[in-house]
Amino acid sequence: MARLTEIGWEDFAGLSLEAKKPYLEREEGDGLPYHTLFAQQFDRSCLERLCALANRIRFINKSKEGALYLKNVLAHKRAMLYFSQPSSRTFLSHLAACQILGITTGSVRDAATSSEFKGESREDSIRTFSSYFDMIIMRSPVQGLAEKMAWELSNSSRPVPILNAGSGKDQHPTQALLDIYTLVRSFEEKGGIDGRTVTFCGDLMRGRTVRSLSYLLTNFKNVRQIFVAPPDLQVPADVVMILAKKGVDFEVTDDLKAAVKTSDAVYMTRIQDEWDSSKGESAKIDTSRFKFGAEELALLRPDGVIMHPLPRRDEIATCCDHDPRAMYWRQMRNGMWIRAALIASTFGFERSIMECGY
Ligand code: NCD
Repeated sequence: MARLTEIGWEDFAGLSLEAKKPYLEREEGDGLPYHTLFAQQFDRSCLERLCALANRIRFINKSKEGALYLKNVLAHKRAMLYFSQPSSRTFLSHLAACQILGITTGSVRDAATSSEFKGESREDSIRTFSSYFDMIIMRSPVQGLAEKMAWELSNSSRPVPILNAGSGKDQHPTQALLDIYTLVRSFEEKGGIDGRTVTFCGDLMRGRTVRSLSYLLTNFKNVRQIFVAPPDLQVPADVVMILAKKGVDFEVTDDLKAAVKTSDAVYMTRIQDEWDSSKGESAKIDTSRFKFGAEELALLRPDGVIMHPLPRRDEIATCCDHDPRAMYWRQMRNGMWIRAALIASTFGFERSIMECGY
């Protein structure tokens, strides 16, 4: 359970994200989230614990005995995957994470097949899921819906945790967790994430993964962030404000090649034209200088990494795919492990998995 029962909706909604964090934590007070809604819920210690748990789950799952142990951990739980926006990786990796832990799942992937089609509100639909399931993993185009539902369900007769799998243009906390896990794994034998330079490139204005990852990176020491985008798609003011307030060294530029030369990680993103206010709006923007190809690959340091939340269009040329620095394929699989870690810890199984004999 979360402490959200202690505060009214209006008061909660008015708090800063940092101030909301304690209300979303598990009541047991272990510092890990009950509801996972935004990146501001994760400090460095949470991140390190989740990465350690993901490593542990990955290792245990290698043997049949270990995999069967994991399959029993949450065999008594059911999760609802409610995805009212398109998704491949996020849906499948949450599904696979549930399967690893033995959770039974149900799903709605198109509101047109649910009673929303008959005019039921999203809020009522989600409340309905909470009658049958023990966790709701949701992706919605509506910013703030996951947060509202977390409050509603915490204050209902059957509280269940909400896991935000992408909310509007706003946040995508579990993607940011898998991005951090990928960076941790990429640099684990090379001194870690501290002191690294991470470049974000593409549609930084509307890419929710960028907002969440940029924040998570502020948990590390001396990480420089470079934002490369056409002026109309540059990083939004709220992200810049957080970085400035936290004293993060960052740069806003349109020169991808110069940024690549000084970067340890380059995080490419897709133009998010589904958010265009008029059809074809994004197509008018010249994005040709914001693509990663053979020339950029030649400039990237030998131990650098190329990342992408995927799906991609042409922002990373396929000629980069077999380069050992192309981390986007591994990123996907890392997502399954870190999501399994997050789900296990949401239900209070961090310690037992860490300490089991496998
Ligand atoms: C991202 C998303 O949905 O925000 N995809 C994902 O979850 N892996 C990025 C995108 O769609 O471009």
